[in-house]
Amino acid sequence: MTPPSVWVRSRGGTYEVVVGPGLLPDLPRSLVEAVGARRYAVISDDNVAALHGHAVMERLREAGLDASLYTFPAGEASKTRKSWSILTDEMLEAGFGRDACVVAVGGGVTTDMAGFVAATYLRGIPVVQVPTSYLAMIDASVGGKTGVDTKAGKNLVGAFQPPRLVVADTSVLRTLPREERAQGLVEAFKHGAIMDRPYFERLEANFDRLMDADGDAAADAVLRSVEIKAEVVGEDEYESAIRQILNFGHTLGHAIEAASQFRIGHGSAVALGMLLEARLGEEMGVTERGTRERLEKPLVRLVGPLPKFDPEAAVPFLRSDKKVRAGEIRVVLLRRLGEADKGEGWSRAVPEAQLRDLLAKAAAAR
Ligand SMILES: NC(=O)c1ccc[n+]([C@@H]2O[C@H](COP(=O)([O-])OP(=O)(O)OC[C@H]3O[C@@H](n4cnc5c(N)ncnc54)[C@H](O)[C@@H]3O)[C@@H](O)[C@H]2O)c1
Ligand SMILES: [Zn+2]
Repeated sequence: MTPPSVWVRSRGGTYEVVVGPGLLPDLPRSLVEAVGARRYAVISDDNVAALHGHAVMERLREAGLDASLYTFPAGEASKTRKSWSILTDEMLEAGFGRDACVVAVGGGVTTDMAGFVAATYLRGIPVVQVPTSYLAMIDASVGGKTGVDTKAGKNLVGAFQPPRLVVADTSVLRTLPREERAQGLVEAFKHGAIMDRPYFERLEANFDRLMDADGDAAADAVLRSVEIKAEVVGEDEYESAIRQILNFGHTLGHAIEAASQFRIGHGSAVALGMLLEARLGEEMGVTERGTRERLEKPLVRLVGPLPKFDPEAAVPFLRSDKKVRAGEIRVVLLRRLGEADKGEGWSRAVPEAQLRDLLAKAAAAR
């Protein structure tokens, strides 16, 4: 049986995202069909390498493919130009040519960094993404954005490098820590909130199975989320207009995350950001009343009590949001659950004073 998949349009060509439990044994055949490279550089963090990377290597070698494994220490702190330079040097030393392919096996840190390695190695070689976290399956491995963090901020140096193929084997989620599952699933609820109310409700109904990393429930969610992301980025790969709706919850979420010096997890910060942006929309008369309340239950169930934060520390980060245009802070709002507001080009300018006030009220309430 062929596993379900989503085709993603991109300027670099169209690629398939295959989703389902138990896909990894078939990876060698998928690689040969989608890429047919002479050599494969498999990149993983050391966590995922131990859990899944070595098994992937064994399968590739059994299938007669020329493959080598390169690892780096797990964690966001490794998503740097330094790791990039180590990996590219290792590949140069091993003599990988333009007929090689990078295979990223890991979470979003790995898919972002390995994608950037592929984008820059000999001016660009193909990459196949094998995401292993919910976040990487639902978000990071689709859309073609790759890159590394710098001292000045996250993801500031990078490239667009759409993958040749994405293989999301939902069985590997079983080894993903529960906390990471919850953080990643926040983005799935976000997808439901901006585009698809029945999907949002299905996520609620399947909550326990998703948190238990049930392969079929996970595949259903990953597929729908990838479809939604693909629909949005397929129309607009280079960040403007409709792609912004994927940033729902992120204007305030990012500011809160950055103000905490990233002690608050991305998922927790975005969950809080979604609630605040829903409240903002209700106050502005854009969002249907009761939407914030409707979002709260599943989000709090996912990430636990919402984090404490310092509202004044968050304000400066609002100005560095990537949706800032001509000095205006822009926020994606909902019209109602399951539908983003078209606004003025899918976001609306909101005065900084109003956001500051909203943050202060929210911080005082917890
Ligand atoms: N390119 C994009 O469009 C995009 C979108 C969203 C996020 N991102 C990036 O994604 C990154 C976050 O991704 P993440 O949350 O997956 O982080 P991550 O890659 O650090 O993974 C989180 C942790 O889970 C571990 N892990 C991953 N898969 C596992 C598995 N199956 N079993 C056991 N452990 C496993 C990792 O080793 C790590 O310790 C950030 O750097 C963010 O900027 C990119
Ligand atoms: Zn996010």
